[in-house]
Amino acid sequence: MKVLVTGASGTLGRAVVPRLLGAGFDVRGMSRRPRPAADGVEWVVADLAAGTGVDLAVTGVDAVVHLASATRSTSARVDVAGTRRLVTDAAEAGVRHLLYVSIVGIDQVPLRYYRLKLAAEQVVAAGAVPWSILRATQFPQLLDQILGGASRLGPVLGDRALLAQPVDPRDVAGRISDRLAAGPSRTIEEYGGPQVLRYDEAAAAWLTARGRRRPVLSIRFPGTFGRTVRAGALTTTATPTGTLTWADYLADTYGGSAGK
Ligand SMILES: NC(=O)c1ccc[n+]([C@@H]2O[C@H](COP(=O)([O-])OP(=O)(O)OC[C@H]3O[C@@H](n4cnc5c(N)ncnc54)[C@H](OP(=O)(O)O)[C@@H]3O)[C@@H](O)[C@H]2O)c1
Repeated sequence: MKVLVTGASGTLGRAVVPRLLGAGFDVRGMSRRPRPAADGVEWVVADLAAGTGVDLAVTGVDAVVHLASATRSTSARVDVAGTRRLVTDAAEAGVRHLLYVSIVGIDQVPLRYYRLKLAAEQVVAAGAVPWSILRATQFPQLLDQILGGASRLGPVLGDRALLAQPVDPRDVAGRISDRLAAGPSRTIEEYGGPQVLRYDEAAAAWLTARGRRRPVLSIRFPGTFGRTVRAGALTTTATPTGTLTWADYLADTYGGSAGK
């Protein structure tokens, strides 16, 4: 089976590509930049915002794993209009399965990026290509980045009671591979990491792994954002879960066995 992976160069894409190759899929990666074919991957250039190259990218593939997203700039042109273009072109090319990776809690937590992801889910579900949606919880790389930003002034700032359930991209990649093999589900499936952590617990393990001694200063986040995330909107009770923990990520990234 030949699979187009959009966002193949991103955090999740870099885990998905080798996983799919290992499972015996032919993989075509999509990027806005030309990349040389390497390690058995064919690369195509396409831009979801500009609409260029998408029709050619989907030609001749059986399935699309859609990971591309404007995660940093937050853009309806990429996530919503771009997803619509991808779905339309994939339908015309006769693609038989489109798997869209989304985020647990986008229907509860009021963030602009989440509203765009929800709109993109609706585009996928209303499209003519048989689909699956996999909502994952946060990747540990994102939590690491958030903690880095939150400690820029010294202490780690944040609401100690927020709940997160980091899931490793390699575990998500395994789930994507299994879903591709099983075919379109036409449902939204959730997938989370093995542990639910409070923000202060995650921060303490992060500080230990980095050999830093700093306080965690809790600021109670007001409004619907704080209320929903404290209540676990970004976590899921779905099983199975991933197996790699926050401590595994910290040990891989910062060395030692701190936080285990
Ligand atoms: N990060 C998390 O914690 C998390 C959790 C759950 C779900 N997700 C979802 O998982 C997916 C992948 O996330 P990630 O963290 O791997 O993202 P990422 O590292 O920011 O990578 C984003 C990818 O999107 C591609 N892209 C951006 N704009 C594009 C455009 N205009 N046209 C074509 N491609 C474009 C980039 O490709 P090039 O730069 O090569 O063009 C890049 O490979 C996203 O849909 C995200 O919402 C993320």
